[in-house]
Amino acid sequence: MGSPETEPLLRMRGIVKQFPGVRALDGVDLDVRPGEVHCLLGQNGAGKSTLIKVLAGAHQPDEGEIVFAGEPVRLAGPDAAMRAGIATIYQELDLVDGLSVAENIFLGHERSTLGFTRRGDAEKAARELLGRLGHPEIPPRREVGRLPAAGKQVVSMARALSHEARLLVMDEPSAALAHDEVGNLFRIIRELTAAGVAIVYISHRLAEIREIGDRVTVLKDGRAVAVGLPARTTSTDEIVSLMTGRDVEYVFPERPAPGPGDDAPEVLRVEDLTLPGSFADVSLSVRAGEIVGLAGLVGSGRSEILETIYGARRPARGRVLVDGRPVRPGDTRAAVRHGMGMAPEERKSQALLPNETVAGNVTVAGLSRYASFGWLDRRREVADVRRQIEALDIRPPDPARPVVTLSGGNQQKVVLARWLLGSAGLRLLILDEPTRGVDVGARAELYAVIRELAGRGIGVLLVSSEVPEVLGLADRVLVVREGRIVHTGAAGALDEAAVLNMIMEGSAL
Ligand SMILES: Nc1ncnc2c1ncn2[C@@H]1O[C@H](COP(=O)(O)OP(=O)(O)OP(=O)(O)O)[C@@H](O)[C@H]1O
Ligand SMILES: [Mg+2]
Repeated sequence: MGSPETEPLLRMRGIVKQFPGVRALDGVDLDVRPGEVHCLLGQNGAGKSTLIKVLAGAHQPDEGEIVFAGEPVRLAGPDAAMRAGIATIYQELDLVDGLSVAENIFLGHERSTLGFTRRGDAEKAARELLGRLGHPEIPPRREVGRLPAAGKQVVSMARALSHEARLLVMDEPSAALAHDEVGNLFRIIRELTAAGVAIVYISHRLAEIREIGDRVTVLKDGRAVAVGLPARTTSTDEIVSLMTGRDVEYVFPERPAPGPGDDAPEVLRVEDLTLPGSFADVSLSVRAGEIVGLAGLVGSGRSEILETIYGARRPARGRVLVDGRPVRPGDTRAAVRHGMGMAPEERKSQALLPNETVAGNVTVAGLSRYASFGWLDRRREVADVRRQIEALDIRPPDPARPVVTLSGGNQQKVVLARWLLGSAGLRLLILDEPTRGVDVGARAELYAVIRELAGRGIGVLLVSSEVPEVLGLADRVLVVREGRIVHTGAAGALDEAAVLNMIMEGSAL
């Protein structure tokens, strides 16, 4: 841990970054000491990613100065930052899907052309790094595009480590990771900081900040509203009110009483669904108005179960019925016709239309509703989109803005807004990690919207890595382990420790 007397490794002063119409950074100061984990907190759109892109040489600041290891530096590009000793793991992983794991790790690396004369050497070095990260099973030759989200995250970490950086910047590294994987990440962080490496760590999970952080800097609307607070002793209330400028109650909406009774009709029925290599003999049901949560580790089969129900994967065996009618397997269009909607885990690659505006992304599911006599009713479309923007607090609240210019968390909200808006014919909403990357303030709003949809009789089936979220939001919880449902119970009758035990029993920690 960095002690107060040590000279900072990094000193940023008065950093300003202006985008068209947005002052993303408005004079930010940041000091990072060698060997410390310095956490950056702030709501979606506060400027966290922009600040670290300045550090990574990906954005040029309009004003301000950066001193690194005692020297003023100009980080003219990503190469300059890496040479200076700053490595970055981005929020949107910038891996090349078509290249192998080893090629990605050493991409843009001087050693990839000079040091490694043979591909085998690069693969050996890659294997060493992956082993150090606790993932010796990832094959260096595998195409990155074929790895699951958590695997990609590990490759991205390996690439950052390969530079032997003095400052490692991580933008929401845990967002794609489940509980046990986060433990592994923290172990690596502790090894690095013990060796004097400084870490800048961004996360929306306050519990993590307490566990791994030394100091905290809070950004709000492009300004640092608190610099270098102690991570362990600053209260959650204080941090949240610094972030939001108001007191936010981190609460789940009340479950309706009486809840969806046993007599409520089944919206979804799944019988003996089996996808070899992922999960087997999964049977479950969701009633009208019920929220059912799946809890399980990454790799337990939980996302594959959702994707198979939605028709994105073809099961070897089993049936899916909506309102009692069988849905053609392996056909997402059939799923949509039966009234299913899904917000997938990797929203960026699977759901976002990067060349579209916010409005274009929100209305894509319900386009036909705005077409009358061949004309698109733009006015009604914009009015509906505005309502969703308000409900989910999407910032900036501008339907015409290109979606790629929104912050990561706001992009998540856009994809969710699509299904909320397209809810007219919706019977079952499937949500894979609905709050990933969403800040604490907006989470409560999102929970309320999900509960409201259920209140309209829609069935909700969701996966979350955060057990308290599953327990707080769902009516019923199914625990998935190694491709099987090992427990089903009312959320109110379970606690976090019990669920974690069931999730992890028998798995290596
Ligand atoms: N390339 C860009 N062009 C225009 N505006 C941008 C661009 N990148 C970011 N912005 C804007 O700058 C502001 C800060 O965004 P940033 O991505 O830094 O937020 P963040 O704190 O990382 O949020 P999140 O928690 O959602 O990831 C936002 O208003 C965003 O819309
Ligand atoms: Mg961000």
